Amino acid sequence: MSELFTPYKIGPIELRNRTIRSAAFEAMCPGQRPSKELFDYHTAVARGGIGMTTVAYAAVCRSGLSFENQLWMREEIVPELKQLTDAIHAEGAKASIQLGHCGNMSHRSICGCMPYGASRGFNLYSPTFVQKMNIKQIHEVAEAYGRAVELAIEAGFDAVEIHAGHGYLISQFLSPYTNHRRDEFGGSLENRMRFMKMCVEKVVAAGKGKVALFAKLNTRDGFKGGQETDELIEVAKVLRDMGIESIVLSGGFVSRHPQYVMRGQFPTRAIVHYFPWSKWWLKVGVGLAGKIVAPTVPFKPLFFMEDALKFQAAMPGYPFTYVGGVISRETADEVMENGFPMLQMGRAVLEDTDFVNKMKADEKHCSGCEHSNFCIGRMYSRSMQCHKKCEDITPGLVKAVEKVNRQNDKMERKLGYKK
Ligand SMILES: Cc1cc2nc3c(=O)[nH]c(=O)nc-3n(C[C@H](O)[C@H](O)[C@H](O)COP(=O)(O)O)c2cc1C
Repeated sequence: MSELFTPYKIGPIELRNRTIRSAAFEAMCPGQRPSKELFDYHTAVARGGIGMTTVAYAAVCRSGLSFENQLWMREEIVPELKQLTDAIHAEGAKASIQLGHCGNMSHRSICGCMPYGASRGFNLYSPTFVQKMNIKQIHEVAEAYGRAVELAIEAGFDAVEIHAGHGYLISQFLSPYTNHRRDEFGGSLENRMRFMKMCVEKVVAAGKGKVALFAKLNTRDGFKGGQETDELIEVAKVLRDMGIESIVLSGGFVSRHPQYVMRGQFPTRAIVHYFPWSKWWLKVGVGLAGKIVAPTVPFKPLFFMEDALKFQAAMPGYPFTYVGGVISRETADEVMENGFPMLQMGRAVLEDTDFVNKMKADEKHCSGCEHSNFCIGRMYSRSMQCHKKCEDITPGLVKAVEKVNRQNDKMERKLGYKK
């Protein structure tokens, strides 16, 4: 039997196998609270054999919200979250929750204030100016991380995942691209890590020994002027030394190079189709410039492996979690063989909630996801769904997805990523 299907202990918990459904935003939380759709979705993932499923992108406080359908951690939703974790546990899986703050990508009408980030700027999506965080706000958000962990424990979660990557608030402080501060939170790496350390200190104080502590970190931001691997390895060491029990190695910067996060084409057609006319400037803007602003990065299996191995070499024995391009039993086994004790999967499980059970039953099993990224395009305005199961998909959108899939196939064969 593959190591993939053996139990694994991390922090105070034991997973039934090494697979984790990565935090992939469900957009199923109208009113910033869990819905039946979210409940049914994660219960189905748990039933599909996963070791642990991650509820994505919960804001630690209201100022960190950027979507109408995004979770906001607060006392009043704990009973509903408890029903969700109970249902996940009843299926034999563990439950994790990703905790974050959108920072300069928060949406003014949802987050209840003028959005703030590491430095001042402009948020095209909202659209609004963004303030530079003051010391009071910095302390408030760090406190909110600790409080969110307490709420997650009360709600029955087994793990928390601190979002320190992808250009969200912690990552905005870490990256020289978004951090232009001249105070003790900007400049040197030590200074740029200060906000992250304040948040993680609260997280560890609230959660150590009660839940498994994960953080999601970039291996690199993925563009010139962004944060590079050498610095991020130092960040990973700090996270380890502070008590984070596993780091999920990802990459990319949603506001600057989104396709580096998950590869493939930016789903322009789906985004434009689902954006309501009330956001006409985005419909027009994305339609005209989407592909230029968010250039394609060809998908390949295990696309973060090369960089992930550099982290592993620099921190031998530390239990990193691999994410990025796990598409089959073969690639999952390769992750194990490369010494990663756990792996996360996004799209393979989004496309089929039974993916893990199918991999277990068949060594040749491969995901049917062709990474058109339709699920991402839809997620900006409606709940996240794979195009294969989407009830309101139009014939025009089906054609667009098929076209993208043909282009992907051609490009990946040309580059030798696909046989
Ligand atoms: C629809 C969708 C939503 C996502 N939302 C998040 C998110 O909320 N937080 C996060 O850290 N990553 C998010 N991601 C990235 C995934 O967690 C994962 O890192 C990425 O898709 C690569 O893994 P994969 O190749 O297995 O899909 C999202 C990905 C998809 C496809």
